[in-house]
Amino acid sequence: MRRPLVAGNWKMNGSRVVAEQLTDEISAAVLPGCDVVLCPPVPYLSIVSSRIGAAAVSLGGQDCSEHENGAYTGETAVSMLADIGCRYVIVGHSERRQNFGETDTRVAAKVAAAHSGGLVPILCLGESLAERQAQETEMVVGRQLDAILGLPEIASILPDLVIAYEPVWAIGTGESATPEQAEQVHAWIRERIASHDSGAAERIRLLYGGSVKPDNAAALFAMPDIDGGLIGGASLAADSFIAICRVAG
Ligand code: PGA
Repeated sequence: MRRPLVAGNWKMNGSRVVAEQLTDEISAAVLPGCDVVLCPPVPYLSIVSSRIGAAAVSLGGQDCSEHENGAYTGETAVSMLADIGCRYVIVGHSERRQNFGETDTRVAAKVAAAHSGGLVPILCLGESLAERQAQETEMVVGRQLDAILGLPEIASILPDLVIAYEPVWAIGTGESATPEQAEQVHAWIRERIASHDSGAAERIRLLYGGSVKPDNAAALFAMPDIDGGLIGGASLAADSFIAICRVAG
């Protein structure tokens, strides 16, 4: 049995006060059935870190540098995220791929850096609407996944890796993939991983992301290969995020 995981991706939203309130409300909720991860913007990481305290909530970054340190103005090193209390880091979110030109190669380097720095990468994969309509979902997701599966250190990365399938057309649009659409891709991803390492494929948690809300979470999470969610908009309200966590486990 894979333990469900629900991560809240706050993206570039909120303020100090919002970060404090969200953290306090979510930390106060009793959510024993799933792993809960909060991914606030970088300036609020330490605030969230200090407030989750011993709560069963983990901290995650939204991105990291593939470099260890040095002249990379504006970037955040994996060691800095770990230093401040992060256990997870989102890597390769479609907004980074689209708006910041992140290539599959760069995303793979970030996954490797996160893993070697002791963080669990939450690797995002997903196709655009045009790619889905052209029936290229498997080709695109396969290409994104193969960049990771080709890493020399993949054998040690795979057992801990978390993958989030996030169809770009479902992110922030209110139009979630149907549970069947999502399950089809999740099962396909798990099979592709199984061809590398069947044990890891069974253990690996595959999250769905894209317009998950309290009212569609149950149907999505009921699917056999959906092990939780990466939540954007609905993670910015404590009650909806907590409701989604309760559905997960
Ligand atoms: P959404 O975002 O839940 O607002 O669609 C998901 C994400 O981008 O991780």
